[in-house]
Amino acid sequence: MIEQPSSRGSSTVPNRSLGAGHRNRIAAHLLALDAHDRYLRFGYAAGEEQVRRYVEHLDFDRDDIFGIFNRRLDLIAMAHLAFIPHEPDTPAGVEFAVSVVPRARGRGYGTRLFETAVRHARNEGAELMFIHALSENIAMIRIARHGGATLERAGSETEAYLRLPPATLDSRVSAILDEQVAQADYRIKKQARNFLHFLGRLQEIRRGASGARGKSGR
Ligand SMILES: CC(C)(COP(=O)(O)OP(=O)(O)OC[C@H]1O[C@@H](n2cnc3c(N)ncnc32)[C@H](O)[C@@H]1OP(=O)(O)O)[C@@H](O)C(=O)NCCC(=O)NCCS
Repeated sequence: MIEQPSSRGSSTVPNRSLGAGHRNRIAAHLLALDAHDRYLRFGYAAGEEQVRRYVEHLDFDRDDIFGIFNRRLDLIAMAHLAFIPHEPDTPAGVEFAVSVVPRARGRGYGTRLFETAVRHARNEGAELMFIHALSENIAMIRIARHGGATLERAGSETEAYLRLPPATLDSRVSAILDEQVAQADYRIKKQARNFLHFLGRLQEIRRGASGARGKSGR
């Protein structure tokens, strides 16, 4: 079940690791979610201040944070894989949380980020993955169930946990390759965006120049 491509072909969507330099984009992504989505994502209706504090405190060294960008380099989906501190004789665990902007939902991005998170977690030696979801959150519960998680419903909340198999050569190599593809995709989108800005500015300059010629009667 792990690492299988989704039925919607989302396995080809590049998703890259995010760093401290992406804090503004992460904040913009989370603040674009409405109150109900933030309630589903954080387990409470996080306000702007709380979202900003969460973003400020993201620990990019300890945790894995990754996302999917559109052509304008807006972060349209992101996942946070938090490594839970553990004693040497207890299994290493991670907690998974994800969000996709409403206009990009239903395309398999949530599933894709889940699959990436599973692979990251395995490669980092985690043995268990936890997902806290509200029981009303059908999409998240489907993602966890399809991924092989065991679900335990307790009223309005559902706890899902997934036993992770150990890393393999395949899980390590495909993680490296996927990250390289995602970085290349990001660079291409950035160059395309910069080129469009450049063209836009060029047109403005040309319009300004022809306007000036008109005024001088030439
Ligand atoms: C949960 C969330 C990340 C799903 O993202 P997504 O990109 O739409 O998910 P996918 O496209 O991979 O779909 C996953 C599954 O849920 C189903 N699904 C998606 N939206 C659904 C909806 N509104 N109602 C019912 N099922 C839905 C899909 O059909 C798919 O099921 P399938 O594989 O059996 O076909 C997104 O809805 C979201 O950001 N919600 C707000 C934040 C949140 O709830 N985060 C999760 C808690 S940590």
